[in-house]
Amino acid sequence: MTDIPAFVNNRRLDVMAANPLAEALYAPLFADPTRPANHARFAFLNPRAHDFWIDWDRIADDTVAVLRTEAGRDPYDKTLADLVGELCTRSDAFRTRWASHNVRLHRTGLKHYQHPVVGALHLNFESMELAADAGVTVTMLSAQAGSPADDNLRLLSSWAATPSTGRRPHRSGAELMNPTYEFRDQVALVTGAASGIGLATATAFAESGAAVVLADFNEQALRAATDKLTAAGHRVTGVTCDVSDEGQTAAMVARAVGEYGRLDMAFNNAGVQAPPSDAADELAENFDRVTAINLRGVWASMKHELHHMRDQGSGAIVNCSSLGGLVGMPSRAAYHAAKHGVIGLTKSAALEYASCGIRINAVCPGVILTGMSADMMETQADAMTEILKDQPTGRIGRADEVAAAVLWLCSPAASFVIAVALPFDGGFTAH
Ligand SMILES: NC(=O)c1ccc[n+]([C@@H]2O[C@H](COP(=O)([O-])OP(=O)(O)OC[C@H]3O[C@@H](n4cnc5c(N)ncnc54)[C@H](O)[C@@H]3O)[C@@H](O)[C@H]2O)c1
Repeated sequence: MTDIPAFVNNRRLDVMAANPLAEALYAPLFADPTRPANHARFAFLNPRAHDFWIDWDRIADDTVAVLRTEAGRDPYDKTLADLVGELCTRSDAFRTRWASHNVRLHRTGLKHYQHPVVGALHLNFESMELAADAGVTVTMLSAQAGSPADDNLRLLSSWAATPSTGRRPHRSGAELMNPTYEFRDQVALVTGAASGIGLATATAFAESGAAVVLADFNEQALRAATDKLTAAGHRVTGVTCDVSDEGQTAAMVARAVGEYGRLDMAFNNAGVQAPPSDAADELAENFDRVTAINLRGVWASMKHELHHMRDQGSGAIVNCSSLGGLVGMPSRAAYHAAKHGVIGLTKSAALEYASCGIRINAVCPGVILTGMSADMMETQADAMTEILKDQPTGRIGRADEVAAAVLWLCSPAASFVIAVALPFDGGFTAH
């Protein structure tokens, strides 16, 4: 089933399987690298859910109704009880609904989405139980033939790279990259670690046994990320740091080394988008901000990491550039300048430190599904549609895929890889 979105949920609303079109439709849900993706967590804990579901209130009611029904069926399901407990603790909206005992559940009807790529989508849905005991349901969505939603679904379908296009179908969101490196007794530092690519990479480092220092200037998101990793049994430390301030980056590295005694791997990833602008109208403050974070921030982080790694005589650093570091694009001069700069910084420092046991490389992600690209899809929908049309894979990348490349670059498997700017763009820059 590839021409309509379809997904399978268990009783906790974990997504057990989703076809490529459902993954594309639920892109904001799958943007969070946590697996299994969970509808209830997304609905109540992710602020993007309110924009994504035009009728959020009804979705919220239905979500609670499903969980209540399932809790009634099996009051001893600990995983379900844990989920409800977490949602009651973290979401007032959930707690109020849970207390109201409203279990009216809609199995058919219309769902109204505001999709970040294709805009408004009004789709009929039908949910059916596959196995009554297991609480497994399959949900299918469809558009009325000839309606605007039908056109948008078709656009979404080409974006999703279904097998009917002759391309390889992309991996299911449930199948995460799972690099199995052995980083026990090693220490990794990730900047911009509270979300997106940084969080996926910090998680992958932690799952490979490393102690991980997560640095970000968004304190609240940082706390949520470190709490989650700590609860999963990982050794992590959160450091609030604005990488555009050299004093703070020095303190960040000092904290990492102070806490864990060494620093083996660093991913200098923190970055922001610049508002698109005609080069003749670019505001100096926008140029300064994007270069201060995306270029100077990488410079300052790397400088202080090298201070320590030089004394240690070992280390691997990966700097986050972009496809914007490899090619130009109209209206994007400031961002692309900063990302080109990251590559110059990487290559020069890599040559300087190659003989000291320190490897420095860069990754150049193409469009990756994160908060940053979702924002661009909302604010620059036309430009993003153009980019996606030229995407050889027919799909955009995932944060956990970038994480896998970063871990490889940091691992002994890449021991002879130095000063590369690795395009990580599904072939986009080969055009
Ligand atoms: N998503 C993409 O399509 C894409 C493509 C190419 C390159 N990149 C690059 O990947 C990196 C990560 O982006 P993402 O897509 O995960 O975005 P994101 O917005 O999800 O994550 C960026 C993180 O960096 C943090 N951050 C921003 N400014 C900071 C600062 N001054 N100090 C500390 N932390 C700061 C944010 O709080 C956020 O947690 C960025 O450097 C971005 O330029 C992203």
